[in-house]
Amino acid sequence: MESFINIRYFYGLKMNTMKLNSIGLSEEKSRTLSRDLNVLLANFQLYYQNLRGIHWNIRGKSFFDLHMKFEELYTDANVKVDELAERVLTLGGVPLHTFEDYMSHAKVPIGKNVTKDEDSIRLIVDSLKQLLILERQLLDDSDEAGDEGTNSMMSDLITEQEKTVWMMKAWLAEKI
Ligand SMILES: [Fe+2]
Repeated sequence: MESFINIRYFYGLKMNTMKLNSIGLSEEKSRTLSRDLNVLLANFQLYYQNLRGIHWNIRGKSFFDLHMKFEELYTDANVKVDELAERVLTLGGVPLHTFEDYMSHAKVPIGKNVTKDEDSIRLIVDSLKQLLILERQLLDDSDEAGDEGTNSMMSDLITEQEKTVWMMKAWLAEKI
């Protein structure tokens, strides 16, 4: 009985000392999440730049199809980058915005002078794989922090990107 009371006292004390921010989340957890969201933002920007590169440099018989497809993907990535940056701000952080910062957090492979259709599609698959790994970690961490806003954002990104990977692998005639 005595230890039960002590445990309650301990948790009560912990609850009272946890500082909440203006959206009702732990300040400390929000700081950690915005820092990790910035890493995702940095890698999203590298993915975006990969897409611009293959949109410009693609050559060969599937030029018209892929040139258009890559434009569709980078236009969508551009919207996602803005949403991520604004989530960082909502959690009280400052979004990374320099190439120097992006490169220092690079996990997505850097595609340079990629001209072949197959290499371009592989670059997309490899880039999305790295983004998905970061997003799954954020999904778990935001769940633990009770941050539904970040959690649902990650959930939507994961579902959409997994489908894109499936389609790219189908184009490559390979299994997931
Ligand atoms: Fe263009």
